[in-house]
Parts: sequence; structure tokens; C-alpha cells
Amino acid sequence: MSELKKLPRHVAIIMDGNGRWAKAHALAVAQGHRRGTETLRAIIRESSDIGIEALSLYAFSTENWKRSAAEVNALMSLLLEYFTGEIDELDENNVRIRILGDKDGLPGPQRDALIAAERRTAENTGLKLNIAINYGARDEILRAAKALARRAKDGTLDPDSLTAADFENELYTRGLPDVDLLIRTSGEMRLSNFLLYQCAYAEMTFPTVLWPDFSLDDYHAALRAFGARDRRFGGRNG
Ligand code: FPP
Repeated sequence: MSELKKLPRHVAIIMDGNGRWAKAHALAVAQGHRRGTETLRAIIRESSDIGIEALSLYAFSTENWKRSAAEVNALMSLLLEYFTGEIDELDENNVRIRILGDKDGLPGPQRDALIAAERRTAENTGLKLNIAINYGARDEILRAAKALARRAKDGTLDPDSLTAADFENELYTRGLPDVDLLIRTSGEMRLSNFLLYQCAYAEMTFPTVLWPDFSLDDYHAALRAFGARDRRFGGRNG
């Protein structure tokens, strides 16, 4: 990808459209998610190959529990399959896995597999792969506020000297750079409670392609579009 001059440090993706893809192919929704996992595999590999620093993928939101038991079970099975089946390759590729979200709210086997994946790859220095599972940005921000309030109450934090860095240290994304580029597939144009704090200055792109059909060409197009954006962060260039 030599033509990609200005790469984003941190790419976040809302992998939308699995359900519509399944419907369009007269398949069960679980098949859409399975095909979506193939796309996810390819995008992770490519991100690692081209030297993206951090990639955050929205796999399961705190609101997704409202879906049918069959769909939730299918997603949970895919998660387990992915984290047990891919962990060797991810580790060999020096990928560091972090889960964003409340792991305690997950079924035991999934929780154990995610914790094992995080532990096994904790010292890796390649792609920082963040998978948001049982994640909601408002929940994340509220947790940070509660943690800081507890510290203020027990006297270990002076509220008046609280900094943005102190706040960011309480988020699931502690230590990661802000999101530079947010991609949401399927043409929907909203954030759906994903990384609201971290996307403050993110460039956004909304390709209409459904996630199972999102190709490396589509990914490269999004990265090129990012490279062409004039980022001012509230200031003025030139
Ligand atoms: C949105 O499509 C997608 C999801 C809610 C789940 C995304 C999950 C995966 C791609 C696979 C599982 C993840 C891992 C890490 C193995 P939608 O179902 O809302 O699509 P629709 O809007 O067309 O119905």
C-alpha cells in the first residue's frame, strides 16, 4: 500500500449490515454474522500488514442483548470460535488484543477466552487490536466518572486538579491514541454509542457496502480518503 502516505494511527469500525446481507441472500442472520467474521479477519490482517497502530471493532454493544436469543447465541458462539481459533495466528503476528467493554456481563466461556487472549498477547508490540464486546460509550464514561468520584471521596484525588489524562486513564481505551478514522459500513450515519469520547476529532466515512462485502479495496479507499482530509482540530491551517 505504498500510495497510502498519511495513515491514521487509530481506525475504528462499526461493522454494520450483516443482517441485511443475510436477508439479501435469503440466509439466516447468523450466516450474515459468520460472513462478517471473514471480513473482520481480512481487515485485521491487512491493518497489521500495513502498519496501522490501533484498530477498534464494534462486535457487540450493550444494546445488542435486545436481539433474539438465537441471534445473541450465534454471535456469542462466533466470538468464542474466533478467539479460540485465531489466537495462535494473532499472537504469531505480534497482535495485542484488548477487549473494550464489560467482560463480567458475558457468559463464562466467552469471558474466559477473552481474558486468556488479552493475557497471552499483553506483551505483543504489533497492531493494537481492540474488540468492543458488551460495550457502550455512555456506560464507559459513567464508569470512569464513578471511579473518579470514588477516588475523590476516599481522598486520593483532588477534583480541582483533575486532568483530561486522569479521565482518559479510566476509559477502556487507556493509553490508546484518539480515533483518527471511523468507518461505518452499510450507509448508516450514526455512532450508535461507539467510542463517543475517543471520536471527538475523528474523520468519518460511511461506505454504503454491507460489512460482509466490505473488501480490501473498500478499506484502502477509506484510508485514502482519510489521507486527503484537512484536519484542523478546531484550529486553522494555512
Ligand atoms: C451489525 O450488523 C453487526 C453486529 C451487531 C455484529 C458484528 C459482529 C461480527 C462481524 C462478527 C462477530 C465478531 C467477532 C469479533 C468474531 P447488523 O446485524 O446490525 O446488520 P443489519 O443492520 O443489516 O441488521
